[in-house]
Amino acid sequence: MRLAKKMSVLAAGAALTLGLAACGGSGAGAGGGAEGGGAGNGDDEVKVGVAMPTQTYERWIQDGNNVKEGLEELGYDVDLQFANDDIPTQTQQIDSMITGGVDALIIASIDGTALTSQLDAAAAANIPVIAYDRLIRDSENVDFYVTFDNYEVGVAQGNALLRGLGVIDADGEKTGEKGPFNIELFAGSPDDNNAGFFFDGAMDTLKPYLDDGTLKVPSGQTKFGQVATQRWEQETAQKRMENLLTSTYNGGTKLDGVLAPADPLSRGIITALQGVGMGPTIEKGLPVVTGQDAEIDSIKLINDGVQSSTIFKDTRNLADEAVKAAQAFVEGEEPDANDTETYDNGVKVVPSHLLPIQTVFKEDIKPVLVDTDYYTQDEVEKGQTD
Ligand code: BGC
Repeated sequence: MRLAKKMSVLAAGAALTLGLAACGGSGAGAGGGAEGGGAGNGDDEVKVGVAMPTQTYERWIQDGNNVKEGLEELGYDVDLQFANDDIPTQTQQIDSMITGGVDALIIASIDGTALTSQLDAAAAANIPVIAYDRLIRDSENVDFYVTFDNYEVGVAQGNALLRGLGVIDADGEKTGEKGPFNIELFAGSPDDNNAGFFFDGAMDTLKPYLDDGTLKVPSGQTKFGQVATQRWEQETAQKRMENLLTSTYNGGTKLDGVLAPADPLSRGIITALQGVGMGPTIEKGLPVVTGQDAEIDSIKLINDGVQSSTIFKDTRNLADEAVKAAQAFVEGEEPDANDTETYDNGVKVVPSHLLPIQTVFKEDIKPVLVDTDYYTQDEVEKGQTD
């Protein structure tokens, strides 16, 4: 199929060149390759559709822009769309990318199970599909997956909570601190395949400490279904935290830590905690709250001693991998997978490229984020990018 794709792109290009020579370039938009489908944007430019879920999370804006830039550097045309976390918007955007004749699709799905008919249409048009960060489920027509090691993100979040509480040290060694510590748990959106990986990684890490009584969950809410946050909405997490504070922590029970799976949720949770007079900093008694994504607002909070930690996933590298995968497909080659076992989407195991992650506490901001030019020191202090 990959070779067929390459042939069709080349054939379409050749046909077009001949066509241009023969008839002075008329008929653009008529479609390049009769059988090629993927090269059907009617000119010899390669065009890639990039579908991102939302602009409410800073990371997806960066992801979208980085992928676009990388593709444009290759001379490709890019159709970049954000979908406001609305499934029909995303399906429509992908439909129109397909009818617009893209040569490859890069998709960060909102609901990983909602794109089957779009992927069928892409396959029928011989358009390769790269799942970006989030696995697309229940379809045979996902050709490649670029992501971070999502289970490891969860493990790192569990360890960051333990470290924030003083149960383990920076090297991951047990300190002998036995608490008991009261914690509450939050997970991401149930329709995002990543959310389960994050939660499983964290819970596998915390389980021994829950079992031996070092950690307790006073609300009793420990199941994914009880702690998930639909569509990763900050307000939903804040509300649930407020409800927990009223239902469980009203009579003097102390809350020591919160497992939060993403920075916007961490900030919603922190707002709820500060709203009942906790903190305002960890030093002043604010519970330890974890995070993910190293968003600039949260990096400032970590720098100020308010949020305890986050997990940095360098989206510049993820964008690079997606661009390389798209280029490989367009040129009729296979992208470079480093995992062919973990990501079963319900129909098949999708060949994947997983990238490493890094935990960030306050002392890591400079080496991990500033020295690598992810943020400037000034941006960290302002909590805003220029
Ligand atoms: C991503 C996280 C992100 C979350 C919410 C997940 O799929 O892997 O980085 O925080 O979605 O947008």
